[in-house]
Amino acid sequence: MVSLTTCINNLELKNPFILASGIMDEDAGSMKRILQEDAAAVVTKSIGLHERNGHSNPTFLELEHGLLNAMGLPNPGIDSYGSEIKKINNDNGKIIGSIFGSNVEEFEILSEKMQNYGVNALELNLSCPHAKGYGLEIGQDPEEINKIVRAVKQSVSIPIFVKLSPNVNDICMLAKAAEQGGADAIVAINTVKAMKIDIETKRPILANKIGGYSGKAIKPIGIRNVYEIFEAIKIPIIGVGGITKGEDVIEYIMAGASAVQVGSGIYYNGIQIFTQLKEQVIKWMTQNNYQNIKELIGVAHK
Ligand code: SIN
Repeated sequence: MVSLTTCINNLELKNPFILASGIMDEDAGSMKRILQEDAAAVVTKSIGLHERNGHSNPTFLELEHGLLNAMGLPNPGIDSYGSEIKKINNDNGKIIGSIFGSNVEEFEILSEKMQNYGVNALELNLSCPHAKGYGLEIGQDPEEINKIVRAVKQSVSIPIFVKLSPNVNDICMLAKAAEQGGADAIVAINTVKAMKIDIETKRPILANKIGGYSGKAIKPIGIRNVYEIFEAIKIPIIGVGGITKGEDVIEYIMAGASAVQVGSGIYYNGIQIFTQLKEQVIKWMTQNNYQNIKELIGVAHK
């Protein structure tokens, strides 16, 4: 019998499959549907202090090898979002509340409110690559990361995950700053900064011009980041980027991830991707004589 149970510090998950922030996570109904599949947890849409419309359209396009988006952190604001979270019956899995802020104080307020809504853990979005004053703009400074994580840690008792960007010189330095601030896990990676120009109109297609690239093409970038972070820190890592099949999950876990998040994979395979991943991972483990997924974490480093 194969065991897929994994732990992100003291958050136990029935398997390593988590819905990534930004897809099918705006309302309780879609998150409940995902939890009824074989996902162990869902990450909410990133929520800020106030309602935001996000960037103008077009905000999303499919490219040959991946997806490009510049949504601009649209969200209803923390006070309205509480009712959605409270509607989710999380008997089937865990809820991870994603938050973004522009400074320490905003992160403190958001984290306390999310905890009061009943989420099981927090994900600090310090990595959105295209929202002025948020995400990567503050998440590329190790001192700022350290200050924010330290403050959130003092404000709440639930585990804190920090989602980092690959669009930096040294992601390990940022992961270490988060770990020293008291983070319980690192989530890597957010999308890769990218652009598409329409050669007929000679203009960038996204209204924001620059967006974040996700999907199959970024998997090797995610794997490399997880591999390097694993050598730099001791806290668990959640791998994200380009996962569409069981072998991708195994690769992330061998690189050092204790769990994985799936976002764009839902665009390609539908929500049944969680069941597909589960079946494919169990098949691979059975064929390769592994009984426990934890045995595979970081084996590529040995
Ligand atoms: C967005 O809302 O623009 C995407 C969020 C992110 O990339 O973190």
